[in-house]
Amino acid sequence: MKTLKQRFAEKMLPMRDEVKGFLQEHGDTVIHEVTLQQAFGGMRGIKCMAWEPSLLDPLEGIRFRGYTIPELQQKLPKAPGGNEPLPEALFFLLMTGDIPTDEETAEITAEWKKRGELPDYVAQVLDSLPLDTHPMTQFSIGILCQQRDSVFAAQYREGIKKTDYWESTLEDVMTLLARLPAVAAKVYNRTYKNDRKIAPDPKLDWGANFAHMMGYNKEEFRELLRLYLVIHADHEGGNVSAHTTRLVGSALSDAYYSLSGGMNGLAGPLHGLANQEVLRWIMEVKEKLGGTPTKEDLVKFLWDTLNSGQVIPGYGHAVLRKTDPRYMAQREFALKHLPDDEIFKVVSMIFEVAPGILEKHGKAKNPWPNVDAHSGCLLVHYGMTEYDFYTVLFGCSRAMGVLTSLVWDRGLGAPIERPKSFTLQFAKENFIKKG
Ligand SMILES: CC(C)(COP(=O)(O)OP(=O)(O)OC[C@H]1O[C@@H](n2cnc3c(N)ncnc32)[C@H](O)[C@@H]1OP(=O)(O)O)[C@@H](O)C(=O)NCCC(=O)NCCS
Repeated sequence: MKTLKQRFAEKMLPMRDEVKGFLQEHGDTVIHEVTLQQAFGGMRGIKCMAWEPSLLDPLEGIRFRGYTIPELQQKLPKAPGGNEPLPEALFFLLMTGDIPTDEETAEITAEWKKRGELPDYVAQVLDSLPLDTHPMTQFSIGILCQQRDSVFAAQYREGIKKTDYWESTLEDVMTLLARLPAVAAKVYNRTYKNDRKIAPDPKLDWGANFAHMMGYNKEEFRELLRLYLVIHADHEGGNVSAHTTRLVGSALSDAYYSLSGGMNGLAGPLHGLANQEVLRWIMEVKEKLGGTPTKEDLVKFLWDTLNSGQVIPGYGHAVLRKTDPRYMAQREFALKHLPDDEIFKVVSMIFEVAPGILEKHGKAKNPWPNVDAHSGCLLVHYGMTEYDFYTVLFGCSRAMGVLTSLVWDRGLGAPIERPKSFTLQFAKENFIKKG
């Protein structure tokens, strides 16, 4: 059997030539016009970056290497007796574009087990932080402090060929991904569980072992975590965490610097932090309206939220214009495993009424729920009530997509990113027709 590294090289090396030839022939082709509104307005919708691991369609949602989430649930290898895909298998798919066999998946599981132990110094760095440090800050520091282990940085200092950058980057990425659950579990246990120590279980796959190290051993929670780690892994290249990881990496900063940067972006409330906001808000709904609300009360509550100038968390999206398939995957999980859960009932009721209200309100371009509208409800059901931690779980998953792209960027020899900026005065003098 070929290793992941060999399989990756088989795909990447021909593509390196293909991209070169493609650009020689078509490099001057204009693909987008940019308006001033876009330049001042978050560069929304400008097609200006290539990103291989996934592609987002506004109506259909995400496809990972061409596969929808239901297709991944069907085709990717699973844990024995399980129904949800293994995140390791998704990582193989993101890296190579091919669905792995059980053996190929097991190879990644074994490799991550081998590299997965948390170095003592990382635990010491984390232990030096005040306990009220946000879990995302701890997570990002836990990643960044490992930079001293970067093989890429060490080899770069020695002097290596540009065409070989990807090999040491892949080394870093494998070590980093292997250790992430241990970093996250350390953050969880020290912040909320009196710093209890749970040794990894070598019999378990990456996701199940992650659940185990956080103290969750129910098979249903393992399945949930596997699904969670798969569906949050990538959402094409323009979102904040993906774009930041790439931008930092484009300076040839190594995987540790790059991912830590991406995670700082994921920690923003308009991005990954929305999942903790959603749950806080749903608990407020339950508290204010007393248990499961009536539809009338809920409608009034939603209008009150909007009229007080707040957003309905978990609803809307910068690109999507339909219900997020990642929301639907989680809804289906809930319908199967926890149909009578109280919070799930509230989440479902919000799903029934919020899109109509947001449409009437007339501001949000997308009135439908996104991934964050559902995830907290599932985690709370299994006892994970520490909302502030949820974005760390998101980060462990997102790392797979953005680090895949980093290896690809190194393979394809991507240059440093450097868009041109301008001032308002420059825009007035140069872009606006006079007379
Ligand atoms: C996701 C989000 C940041 C996308 O932002 P965006 O691309 O600028 O969204 P839109 O273009 O639809 O925004 C247009 C207007 O609708 C408002 N809007 C968007 N989503 C809204 C929501 N869920 N509730 C109320 N108003 C909303 C925006 O605040 C904006 O108002 P403004 O013109 O007064 O500034 C936005 O929908 C949002 O804040 N959602 C809630 C937070 C969330 O769920 N984030 C997770 C994202 S995965």
